[in-house]
Amino acid sequence: MNFNLPQYLSEKQAIINQYLKLILNQYDKSHELIMAMDHSLMAGGKRLRPILSIASAQVLGNDFLIALPACCAIEMIHTYSLIHDDLPAMDNDDLRRGLPTCHKKFCEATAILAGDALLTQAFNVISNPEQIFDIYPDDETRIKLIFKISQAAGIKGMVQGQMLDMQAFDSKQNKDLEHLHQIHELKTGKMITVSVEAGALSVGSDSKTIEKLIVYADKIGLAFQVIDDILNIEGDPKIMGKAAGSDILNDKMTFPAIIGLEASKKYAKKLIDSALEAIWEFDEKAIPLRAIANYIINRDH
Ligand code: IPE
Ligand code: IPE
Ligand code: MG
Ligand code: MG
Repeated sequence: MNFNLPQYLSEKQAIINQYLKLILNQYDKSHELIMAMDHSLMAGGKRLRPILSIASAQVLGNDFLIALPACCAIEMIHTYSLIHDDLPAMDNDDLRRGLPTCHKKFCEATAILAGDALLTQAFNVISNPEQIFDIYPDDETRIKLIFKISQAAGIKGMVQGQMLDMQAFDSKQNKDLEHLHQIHELKTGKMITVSVEAGALSVGSDSKTIEKLIVYADKIGLAFQVIDDILNIEGDPKIMGKAAGSDILNDKMTFPAIIGLEASKKYAKKLIDSALEAIWEFDEKAIPLRAIANYIINRDH
């Protein structure tokens, strides 16, 4: 089968953007808080996490539209994490998704609150989906989704990873590879894994399939952040829509800093190979998942 990934990505991006817009349209756009949320959420972004949810939902062959509440919630949480990640107290970045970062466009207080609002509203979207979505998972599944997503975003996931990332400076002193794995798995991997899991849960996949999907997702999640580290060195800020070179400048603990650039590339490739292996027995409905795995190591933004 001839599968066109760029077309797949842009079709799915359009659907996700349409629903994110509907969510924001519920609120008064003349308020600065909503303007700031809109600025960051609608700035673009690859929508990789919700697209992974969709691709994972498609493995079962049911209507993937039922995964959209989880898709939107996850993208809102991801966007909040980027707004806060860019703040002066964290990575202090001026450019994100090709636009000024939220705190540059508005102010720090507004950026903090826009992030808070995106995080909070994400759970509102899943718990009250009938406002926006025609189809959505039953109550029990939605509670499970809230549990899984809150876990991936919180103390056992992204926030804890960001905390460890903030504490891990001066990579010359700390070459503990295991610790670096932990940071990357928590700050980036957990949200990617829950994206895949949420798509499967939304369509009611069985636990055996979900287990394999989680192995796939853990591998691509780590690979995704290894490539993010590499792009911070080799990437073009104009294509990425965010700064390059900042990790070295801030002496961040990254894969290239610890094992070198070439070894990092090889490692990312190895991770993608094992991700593909985890889902090798899936049929052609897993073609999008396979294509996304390969895209992750070949991406330029
Ligand atoms: C950037 O994520 C932050 C990381 C966790 C590496 P993305 O590269 O998915 O950023 P967007 O959503 O496309 O802007
Ligand atoms: C971002 O990690 C991770 C989260 C936002 C959770 P980075 O700080 O390495 O990502 P970029 O390079 O700013 O997108
Ligand atoms: Mg960071
Ligand atoms: Mg950053």
